[in-house]
Amino acid sequence: MKLAMARSISHFKNTASLFLLALNLSLTIHQVLGATDNSTLKYCGPITATDTDRVQFALNLEFLETEFFLYGALGKGLDSINPAYSQGGPPPIGGQKALLEDPVVARIIEEFAYEEVGHIRAITSTVGGFPRPLLNISRGLFARSFNDVVGYPLIPPFEPYANSLNFLLAAYIIPYVGLNGYVSTLPSLNSTISRSLVAKLLAIESGQDAVIRTLLYERANERVVPYKFTVAELTNLISARRNSLGGCGNKDEGIILPNKTLGAENQTTSNVLSADANSLAYARTPAEILRIVYGSFNESVPGGFFPKGANGVIAKSYLTRI
Ligand SMILES: *[C@@H]1O[C@H](CO)[C@@H](O)[C@H](O)[C@H]1NC(C)=O
Ligand SMILES: *[C@@H]1O[C@H](CO)[C@@H](O)[C@H](O)[C@H]1NC(C)=O
Ligand SMILES: *[C@@H]1O[C@H](CO)[C@@H](O)[C@H](O)[C@H]1NC(C)=O
Ligand SMILES: *[C@@H]1O[C@H](CO)[C@@H](O)[C@H](O)[C@H]1NC(C)=O
Ligand SMILES: *[C@@H]1O[C@H](CO)[C@@H](O)[C@H](O)[C@H]1NC(C)=O
Ligand SMILES: *[C@@H]1O[C@H](CO)[C@@H](O)[C@H](O)[C@H]1NC(C)=O
Repeated sequence: MKLAMARSISHFKNTASLFLLALNLSLTIHQVLGATDNSTLKYCGPITATDTDRVQFALNLEFLETEFFLYGALGKGLDSINPAYSQGGPPPIGGQKALLEDPVVARIIEEFAYEEVGHIRAITSTVGGFPRPLLNISRGLFARSFNDVVGYPLIPPFEPYANSLNFLLAAYIIPYVGLNGYVSTLPSLNSTISRSLVAKLLAIESGQDAVIRTLLYERANERVVPYKFTVAELTNLISARRNSLGGCGNKDEGIILPNKTLGAENQTTSNVLSADANSLAYARTPAEILRIVYGSFNESVPGGFFPKGANGVIAKSYLTRI
C-alpha cells in the first residue's frame, strides 16, 4: 500500500516535472513567437544587423514624426525647412496644419517638430541616411486607423487635424513606438558613438511621449466629441490595437487602466507612463514596429503610414524576402 502510494507519488512527480518542462519550453517558444488574436505566430526574437542599419532603421520613424508634427504645427513639412534632409524622397501625402486652439499644445507640437528635424540631422550625420520613404499622414489614413482601433467605422470619420485633443490622440500613436524601438536597439549596438546617439534620442522620444500622455491624462475623462468614448478609453483601445498588430504580447498600455494589475507595483490605475511589472520601458524589434506602422500585422506587407514600405537595409530585407 505504502509502496504503491510512493510509486504513484513518484509517478506524479515525474509527470509533473515533464509537464513543467513542457510548460517551460512552450513559454520559451511563446516568448520568441508571440501569438496574436489571429493565432498566427509572429517572430518576436532578436535580429542580426549592423549598428548602422539599426540606427538608420529609426530614421523611418523620425521622418514620420517630423512630417506629422511639422504639418500639424506649421502647415508645411521638412522640405520647407531643409529640402536636403529628405535626400530626394517623395513628399508626404496629406499633411495639413492642425487647428491647435490650445496655445500650450500648439507651442509644444511646434517644439517637437523642430526637435525631430534635429534628430534627422543627428542620425544622418552620424551613420548616414537614406531618402525619406513615402509617408501617408492624410486625414483618411488616421480615420481608417481609428476605425480599426474601435472596430467599426466611426461616424463622422476621426479628424486628426481638427483640434488639439484629436491631434494629441493621433500623436499618441507615434513617438511611443519610436521609444519602444530605441529601447530594443540600444543594447544591441557595438560602438560607443551609436550607443551615445541612441541614448540621447531615446531620452527625448520618451520625453515627448510622456508630455503627450500627460496632456491627454489631464483630459482623461472627457468625451472625444462626437463619439461615445472618453480620452482614456480611446488610449486603451489604441494600445490594444498596437499590441495586436505587433503580435508579441502586452507592450502598450493606455493612460487609465481598467484595474490595478498593470499599474505601477499593482497599486495604481493611473498609467501616465506605459511600463512593465518593474516599471521598465517595453522594447519592440524592427519587425514588431513595422507590423504596427504598416497596420498590416506583417513586416513584409507595407501600408498604413508607409504605403510603399520603410527604407533602409532592415526594412527592405523584409520586403524582398517575399
Ligand atoms: C489578422 O491578420 C491579417 C493579416 O495578417 C489582417 O488582415 C486581419 O485584419 C487580422 N484579423 C484580426 C481579427 O485582427
Ligand atoms: C559587434 O562586436 C562583436 C565583437 O567584437 C562582433 O563579433 C560583431 O560582429 C559586431 N557586430 C556588429 C553588428 O558590428
Ligand atoms: C493614404 O491613406 C488613405 C486612407 O487609407 C488612402 O485612401 C490613400 O489611398 C492612401 N494614399 C496612398 C498613396 O497610399
Ligand atoms: C485587468 O485589466 C487587464 C487589462 O489591463 C485585463 O486583461 C485583466 O483581465 C483585468 N483583470 C481583472 C481581474 O479584471
Ligand atoms: C503584480 O501582479 C502580477 C500578476 O497579478 C504579479 O505577477 C506581480 O508580482 C505583482 N507585482 C507586485 C510588485 O506585487
Ligand atoms: C506576411 O506576408 C508575406 C507576404 O505576403 C507572406 O508570405 C507571409 O506568410 C506573411 N506572414 C504571416 C505571418 O502571415
